[in-house]
Amino acid sequence: MNQLSVQHLIGIKHLKKSDIDLIFKTADHFKEVINRPIKKVPSLRDITIANLFFENSTRTKLSFELAEKRLSADIINFSASQSSVKKGETLIDTANNILSMKVDIIVMRHPSVGACDFLSKHVNAKIVNAGDGTHEHPTQALLDSFSIREKLGEVKGKKIVIIGDILHSRVALSNIYALKLQGAEVMVCGPKTLIPKYIESLGVIVETNLKKALNWCDVANVLRVQNERMDINYFPSTREYTQLFGINKTLLNSLDKKIVIMHPGPINRGVEITSDVADADQSIILNQVENGVAVRMAVIYLLAQQIKQ
Ligand code: CP
Repeated sequence: MNQLSVQHLIGIKHLKKSDIDLIFKTADHFKEVINRPIKKVPSLRDITIANLFFENSTRTKLSFELAEKRLSADIINFSASQSSVKKGETLIDTANNILSMKVDIIVMRHPSVGACDFLSKHVNAKIVNAGDGTHEHPTQALLDSFSIREKLGEVKGKKIVIIGDILHSRVALSNIYALKLQGAEVMVCGPKTLIPKYIESLGVIVETNLKKALNWCDVANVLRVQNERMDINYFPSTREYTQLFGINKTLLNSLDKKIVIMHPGPINRGVEITSDVADADQSIILNQVENGVAVRMAVIYLLAQQIKQ
């Protein structure tokens, strides 16, 4: 198969295993390209992309922008805080005004669950979800699996624990879908209050004891607590959270194996992870960021091929 089975990238939930295989095969090629002295290919010279960010971002925004530039696409960047959204313009009006400037692909981050799906049904452009509220962050999950595959050879059969604030995490949900689709075993670990009740129906193991979770896994993907999405207290204090669910070097050294440490960022050093763990040789956090560019090049390239046909 050399075509995606979907017209937009709204969520991993809508992908097939063959889509992930195709994205990774394409990303392998682009990873080689971005490590050449000339890091650019002319593939998307005839494509225009709008990056619409209605929520803060460092990694995802810069990574998409660089991926698009490496493919030679024309790009325009939109930040909600400096736009006419502040004057009351709707999402569809904003998107249609941008599209009338002949835009082919919209990459969008939005605080509302379902915003990308909604837009895909109302405007004539390819939509790539760069994170919609607490729902999905598909390119993050793809780059996470790509990084596990790079480090451990394959994802199938590997034991991955996702640690922390599962309830508010789009990274957790997209990772669960992606990892299960590829045949990994998945566990979530965190305070009971931050683990959604439906999670076991996704075929995921729940563990509240961090030491047991770390002893079980090959890979620990550590998430930050998303205080900005909380309107009540889910645990007594940050100090207690760190004592029970923070990853530190003493804890890692007490395991009888060397596990791989991941984090999607942004990191709250000293809360969910200590600096000596984040910067340790078993951490692949910066590899994740590097791989994000190649994976996003692959996603955009494959969607653009559908426009060109
Ligand atoms: N991982 C991630 O989505 O980071 P940003 O919020 O900085 O884009």
